[in-house]
Amino acid sequence: MATELHVGVAGLGTVGASLVGLLDKKANALAARCGRPLRTVAVCARDRTRDRGLDLSGCEWFDDPCALAVSPSIDVFVELIGGDEGPAHDSVRAALEAGKHVVTANKALLARHGVELAAIAEKNGVSLNFEAAVAGGIPIVKTMREALAGNDVTRVYGIMNGTCNYILTRMEQEGLGFAECLADAQRLGYAEADPTFDIEGFDTAHKLAILTSLAFGCEIDMDAIYVEGISSISKADIEAASELGYRIKLLGVALRTDSGIEQRVHPTMVPRSSAIARIDGVLNAVAVDGDTVGEVVLVGPGAGGNATASAVIADLADVARGQMRPALGAPVGELAPYRAARMRRHEGGYYIRLSVFDRPGAFAEIARIMADEEISLESIVQHGRAPAAAGKGCSPQPVILITYETTEAAVKRALATIEAQNLVDGTPQLIRIEKLA
Ligand SMILES: NC(=O)c1ccc[n+]([C@@H]2O[C@H](COP(=O)([O-])OP(=O)(O)OC[C@H]3O[C@@H](n4cnc5c(N)ncnc54)[C@H](OP(=O)(O)O)[C@@H]3O)[C@@H](O)[C@H]2O)c1
Repeated sequence: MATELHVGVAGLGTVGASLVGLLDKKANALAARCGRPLRTVAVCARDRTRDRGLDLSGCEWFDDPCALAVSPSIDVFVELIGGDEGPAHDSVRAALEAGKHVVTANKALLARHGVELAAIAEKNGVSLNFEAAVAGGIPIVKTMREALAGNDVTRVYGIMNGTCNYILTRMEQEGLGFAECLADAQRLGYAEADPTFDIEGFDTAHKLAILTSLAFGCEIDMDAIYVEGISSISKADIEAASELGYRIKLLGVALRTDSGIEQRVHPTMVPRSSAIARIDGVLNAVAVDGDTVGEVVLVGPGAGGNATASAVIADLADVARGQMRPALGAPVGELAPYRAARMRRHEGGYYIRLSVFDRPGAFAEIARIMADEEISLESIVQHGRAPAAAGKGCSPQPVILITYETTEAAVKRALATIEAQNLVDGTPQLIRIEKLA
């Protein structure tokens, strides 16, 4: 059998500890599949004394990830520390510069520095693999880089944050409020003590930035993503969506338009009959529309020690077999500059929930403002009394509007006018509808 692949693992937390355990437990099977043994020879974490449930007696210990990254004892450096700067960035750069292959699960690092790091890998003739960085255990990176080579991708979208999907699923299935579901997610360990990164959409945005580059052969541009989280979604929205034949999911969507590439993360109404609507709880799913194959949907666990380590092992297996591909699917010099489509030019249907003051003419005025912006209404849902029909009081009445396809700019202008004319109580709720087969 060929020589052992010597693996150095920086970070022995949720993913790193699972990885080291699995490489040991599955050593024989992996050696057979890869044609050579894979062995963890060196590790690094902050606390040397912590019991991680692993036998690390055969491993060299490093306190400094950068020292491990350049150690002559390793062939491949696995970065499982996290963060887009500091030790993760420094050690990955150092490893690539030292001619080591790198495997990482770090979406934040890739979203911010992916192009720079891919170029360093290319210059040094080593691979930079990151299957685990997008949707954890789902093999979407390899699918996009390899299996869909015969396709021009028109759109890629997905549920890529288990915390948000868990909250939205519980809200729908049990009729609970957002805060209660978030508290449960925290108690069960699905959400961090500070959940902002997940629930405000930034985690999904990191993953989307990477997927966009793979899908469209362009540079990564995190800052061009329109990001909106799920914290404004109420029980009323979930119930209305259900009544109208939709479910609400936090989607990351990237698509090619005439004016450039649109990247957006926001709560989205998806038809209940669509594949993505059926993804519940902490599961993730990524869908790719290819011009040759049609739609491909991959579903699986987006997080967790073993699920994520599964993806890391797939990348290590490629290294062991000597299979090298450009990190972002094409050599860095061939990546197109990212050309952003403006969000205000986004076209689609919209769900709008208004609390309309119950006074004569209010609703007629709203309809006129919509018409002025050439927004056609597909449906209008009112519960209880029709506004202004049941008396002269001023108490707000909920009204839900579903528009036909229009532009973001038109909808935003119409809502600004409606608010300015004091026709509604509070800020209107707006949720984009994604057109799905
Ligand atoms: N957890 C998941 O389900 C999941 C899923 C997909 C992707 N990822 C990605 O995988 C990476 C690791 O995530 P994780 O959940 O395993 O993180 P984690 O549990 O917080 O573990 C981080 C590890 O890094 C070590 N570390 C931190 N700073 C260090 C430093 N300066 N020098 C050396 N070691 C340092 C920590 O050491 P100590 O243990 O000594 O504190 C710990 O072992 C992240 O990029 C994350 O985004 C995670």
